[in-house]
Amino acid sequence: MQPDSHISVLLREACDALQPERGGVFVDATFGRGGHSRELLRLMPTNARLIAIDRDAAAAKAAQEISDPRFTFIAAQFGDVTEALASLGVGPHQVDGLLLDIGVSSPQLDDASRGFSFMRDGPLDMRMDQSRGASAAEWIATAPLNHIAEVIRDYGEERFAQRIATAIVEARERQPVERTVQLAQIVEKAVSARWTGQHPATKTFQAIRIHINQELEELRMALSAALPLLAAGGRLAVICFHSLEDRMVKLWMREQAGRTPEDPRLRHLPVLTTRTASIKLVGRDIAPSDAEVRANPRSRSARLRVAEKLALTT
Ligand SMILES: C[S@@+](CC[C@H](N)C(=O)[O-])C[C@H]1O[C@@H](n2cnc3c(N)ncnc32)[C@H](O)[C@@H]1O
Repeated sequence: MQPDSHISVLLREACDALQPERGGVFVDATFGRGGHSRELLRLMPTNARLIAIDRDAAAAKAAQEISDPRFTFIAAQFGDVTEALASLGVGPHQVDGLLLDIGVSSPQLDDASRGFSFMRDGPLDMRMDQSRGASAAEWIATAPLNHIAEVIRDYGEERFAQRIATAIVEARERQPVERTVQLAQIVEKAVSARWTGQHPATKTFQAIRIHINQELEELRMALSAALPLLAAGGRLAVICFHSLEDRMVKLWMREQAGRTPEDPRLRHLPVLTTRTASIKLVGRDIAPSDAEVRANPRSRSARLRVAEKLALTT
């Protein structure tokens, strides 16, 4: 792969689901390197419009390469999608398709200077938007032990969270934890006896990244903003790469579709009438094909979920 390239995941499936050939206003809220945006532009009619969003300055730079009168890029967080679209005169009920391809891009992971990867030594940054907020190193320098343990447990689903957090706090008392490989080694030492295939720092890095970028909060905000923005018949397509996000999307979509909660005792109950539902689910969740996983192993955990806004809802 080229150093600054990203292989788009579930490209055909996500773009087909949004039905861009209908025309209208489409939003790619996670531009990355624009793989999905370019495909949507290819499929959209001449009078349609595509607005792309990303909070990463490198993505904003890559977006400048697209010169198409139908295309506009906005540097923003997708949690603020309502405000971002309003700045372009796009308001409630005016979006025909919205795509969220959540997570980090390959260029973010592969660039050691961004600090996302424990495989490449670099400054422990991990911010998608490097112009705001604390870096991972700054957070680690001052966060209380219990908060570090909670983040690693809740966002990494790491059973050795307490042990890892204690090791991080002991290490920072000796010298500042400022490099990716330094953090990876601290984690590896703390859980060394239990290495089972996956690198021992995988879950800790994922957890700290989710916390630093407020990823679950952003997703929650984007989902609730999507509903009023979508026009009747408008579609929302969400690609997630790990179970915490996918579970949030699944439960939110089910709830908005008027389904009963995921309580096995309630499974026999009928689905609520569409009068209480604001969306309908479009098919089941979609995983990448074997061929896609072979060609791009990073796609293996991806899941696509699609919903369609019903008429007569807010
Ligand atoms: C998986 S990549 C998207 C790849 C893109 N679909 C493509 O084909 O090139 C995710 C992108 O979403 C961006 N991103 C993640 N969370 C974001 C947020 N809350 N607001 C805006 N952009 C975000 C990241 O900076 C990254 O560029």
